[in-house]
Amino acid sequence: MTVAELRDRARRVMPGGNTRSTLFVPPHPPYAVSGAGCVVTDATGHRVVDCNNNYTALIHGHAHPELVAVATEAVAAGSAFGLPTESEVVCAELLRERTGLPSWRFCNSGTEAVMMALRGARAATGRDLVVRFAGSYHGTYDAVVDPAAPGVPGSVADSVVTLPQGDAGALADLLRSRGSEVAAVLLDLMPNRAGLRPADPAFVEQAADLTRRAGALLVVDEVITLRLEVGGLHTRYGLEPDLVTVGKVVGGGFPVGGVGGRAEVLDSFSPLTDGPVSWGGTFSANPVTMRTGTAALRLFGAAEVAALNARGDRLRGELAGRGVPVSGSGSLVRLLLPDPGATWWRLYERGVLAGTNGLLALSTPMTDDDVDAVRDAVLSAVEGAA
Ligand SMILES: Cc1ncc(COP(=O)(O)O)c(C=O)c1O
Repeated sequence: MTVAELRDRARRVMPGGNTRSTLFVPPHPPYAVSGAGCVVTDATGHRVVDCNNNYTALIHGHAHPELVAVATEAVAAGSAFGLPTESEVVCAELLRERTGLPSWRFCNSGTEAVMMALRGARAATGRDLVVRFAGSYHGTYDAVVDPAAPGVPGSVADSVVTLPQGDAGALADLLRSRGSEVAAVLLDLMPNRAGLRPADPAFVEQAADLTRRAGALLVVDEVITLRLEVGGLHTRYGLEPDLVTVGKVVGGGFPVGGVGGRAEVLDSFSPLTDGPVSWGGTFSANPVTMRTGTAALRLFGAAEVAALNARGDRLRGELAGRGVPVSGSGSLVRLLLPDPGATWWRLYERGVLAGTNGLLALSTPMTDDDVDAVRDAVLSAVEGAA
């Protein structure tokens, strides 16, 4: 079957022919068939070095033998139960050890993690208002998408204030006038869709200080940035968030989200308290995700984190040295090129699978030669556009 035939079939049963808005490239994305290490093969047999890694989630690339073994064993022992399993305790203990955040709960996506963190913050403070920063992507929960988007109720927009990215002055003004209404200030320390630039440490320090003084909770969204440090990017800033949201790499290739933070705040969800906030999810903390995710994190210790970041720094440095505009930090590189759709296809034809906005996320199976090949493909794509 050709890609066009598959696309036409898809369009008959799915709006626009696919499910995830985030990975649509016009006229239609290619179809993946298999992945091994850092290479993906599509339905036409074309092979690409995977720098998308399912939007940064696949820290060890595809079908890592150890992770396949753990996942297979977990599936064989029962993939989900109407009872908790030890696997979630082990995963929570590991995240506590890595991040220093004492208390954890799990869900199935970063979107759910943000949704539950904000609900927990509202419950813990008894306040409604959430503050976020323009351009930061936090998933598809009503409260964190563009309030003008179709389908988002006006009442949701009334409960969220969106401030200019990185503007401590605007935050100070808002908290001065409405501080007692604010439950949470939601921060991404390197917002991908706002250009993947690490936040200014002075802004972060001020934002944390202002938030604390207003009696609001600081929620740091580490769904993408957890991979940049063993304990997440907030540790590089010396931040002590009240809540942190995670996802992506924590699942070892399976669907995951999680919220970690201070026990007093997470206790909003405890069934041992009066009037807890309910936290559901038929597949939350399923043992396949928990066991494979735990194994993936164990394979990504301090040495591996540093080595992967060094590869990313080299790639970014070599591209910048050749005049390609780039941003990011460590293993997350973003090409700041015009016409991201055309760039995506030029890279794909040259053997590199990027994010649709020019994001390149590295994985541990990549060798120096793979990274060289990615660099050369980017340089050739840029020349091809000139
Ligand atoms: C910073 C951030 N938060 C939240 C999300 C939502 O995560 P998910 O796609 O798993 O729902 C994403 C997804 O890319 C993200 O980048």
